[in-house]
Amino acid sequence: MNISKILLILTLLIMSSCNQDKKESNSQDKFAEEPHSFAQPNKAYIKHLKLDIKVDFDTQIISGTATYDIENNDSDEIILDSKYLDIVSVTADGKDTEFSLGKFDQQLGQALNIKIQKGTKQIAVTYNTTKDTEAVQWLNPQQTADKKYPFLFTQGQAILTRSWIPIQDSPQIKITYEANVQVPKHLMAVMSAENPKTKTTDGLYHFAMKQSIPAYLIALAVGDIEYKAISNRTGVYAEKSMLDKVHNEFSDMEKMVSAAEKLYGPYAWEQFDVLVLPPSFPFGGMENPRLTFATPTVIAGDKSLTSLVAHELAHSWSGNLVTNATWNDFWLNEGFTVYFEMRIMEAVYGKERGDMLALISRQDLNDELENLEDTPDATKLKLDLKGHNPDDSMNSIAYDKGYLFLRTLEEKVGREKFDAFIKTYFKVHEFSTMTTEKFVDYLNKNLLEKNNITFNTDEWIYKSGIPANQAIITSDKFKNVESKLAQFISTGNFDKEVTKDWTPQEWVHFVRNFPKTMTADQMLVLDKELNLTNSTNSYIQMVWYEQALNQNYHGNNVDKKIEEFLTQVGRRWYVETLFKAFKRNNRMDDALKVYEKARPNYHSVTVKTIDDLLGYKAK
Ligand code: BES
Ligand code: ZN
Repeated sequence: MNISKILLILTLLIMSSCNQDKKESNSQDKFAEEPHSFAQPNKAYIKHLKLDIKVDFDTQIISGTATYDIENNDSDEIILDSKYLDIVSVTADGKDTEFSLGKFDQQLGQALNIKIQKGTKQIAVTYNTTKDTEAVQWLNPQQTADKKYPFLFTQGQAILTRSWIPIQDSPQIKITYEANVQVPKHLMAVMSAENPKTKTTDGLYHFAMKQSIPAYLIALAVGDIEYKAISNRTGVYAEKSMLDKVHNEFSDMEKMVSAAEKLYGPYAWEQFDVLVLPPSFPFGGMENPRLTFATPTVIAGDKSLTSLVAHELAHSWSGNLVTNATWNDFWLNEGFTVYFEMRIMEAVYGKERGDMLALISRQDLNDELENLEDTPDATKLKLDLKGHNPDDSMNSIAYDKGYLFLRTLEEKVGREKFDAFIKTYFKVHEFSTMTTEKFVDYLNKNLLEKNNITFNTDEWIYKSGIPANQAIITSDKFKNVESKLAQFISTGNFDKEVTKDWTPQEWVHFVRNFPKTMTADQMLVLDKELNLTNSTNSYIQMVWYEQALNQNYHGNNVDKKIEEFLTQVGRRWYVETLFKAFKRNNRMDDALKVYEKARPNYHSVTVKTIDDLLGYKAK
């Protein structure tokens, strides 16, 4: 054997041992490191959940058993996440087994360590929720639309599911589930699963979700609700007094689903329904699969705020099919979803409406950049949230900078190529999870290199601020609004006539763009002509009330209206915007007075945000 042959064999040997190493660490790394979960899925992970629970409105406790089919990688323990749960007993393959709860962390809760054998196939945890459980809001009849029966809903995203189900609460771990839920006889239960369309006589409901989903998408609502179909695969759930209004408002849902499918491929979840909740629901919408949860503040009577439905529908691809692997990759969920939302709105309602929505997003981005001036790291798309609660740290950068990035990219490569790319991206990665790095790699290989295009992707994703090559967004409608506003500022007169065809988006743009020199007297002139204080559109109300606080305007009983708004509505974005304005304008005493009244109506997500903002300590 000559030297070169020996060298060759040696090289081959080294290479193959390297490969082996790589393979081993790859299989160990099936799951990436996740800073917001105690689970160590590379040891053992859950695959299927069977939930048997009872919802008791008298004690305000959910109790029962969560049974999991598991995959064990030779480990002697499996770790679940739990927070504020009372764990009663745990079994492994039907026999009692040892378990222990780890040290409590304010953000993450506690690890639930469960002893298993190498061959263990199933574990079961019997538990009760407690009064501290964060995901669940129990509403009394007065807090509902019909005011007759109590109501309950859960909110899982980002890391709250662990407070009502012991679970591996990481977006990387996807499971199928089924559930048996016992509720009081006159109420209906619905979940992010195949749902009933009528009430059962015994209050017992069975659910199945056959596609695998991350824990944050498991959701439950219980109330005196009814169903009304829009098409054979879309429809709405709401309380009786709201049902027809909701049905009218969302009557374009089937059009939206068709438009979405035409863009990026078949809807994968069979049914797309929306449940309209009582006004304390802390978000505009939540994309629970098969059943989006939505705030009633979008029921404006004129379909003007239904881009929310397009948004949650878009998550059926970006988020629910292809899921951010960790909360640091949150922009992959929301940035793609805003982009897709705009495309659906453009397809269904035309370019003019699309342009207005895009420009509102662009202005939201400017506002957020201003807010985050002192923390430039928070303006990166890829975040580093270790040690932070994702629910406090996720801002609108993921949405609006994410959108601007994708729109800029679209303009660079052309719509046709871009659409084909996204469609394939969803198909190739359906029912799996995505990290930012994996996405960049996929983008480089399948869009940029292929078409010989250079693009500053890394700058967009890993650097703060907005790169210089950003797409420029304009709207003729908004230009007209700006000129009408300028006219008013220079003449002091406003002719209502010119606004008779204005959409709520134009009103929002008008109000949001008051100059810094605007005075309370000028607002009074406008209010006399336009009565904006008594608008019935929640979005216009929010921006007008914010301006009232900024300009120290007190006409038309606006302070009373602001108080009413804040005590009825729990949508965090609205509530936070207004309490921030109180604070900025040195009206903390007024803020605390209103908050004292409003706080009992809010879900824990909103409570936490406003407690922190106002430095409020519960008595
Ligand atoms: N998935 C989000 C809501 C969310 C985000 C809950 C992060 C918890 C943590 C939902 O899709 C969303 O973005 N809702 C928006 C509405 C949308 C039209 C921008 C909202 O609630 O305002
Ligand atoms: Zn979203």
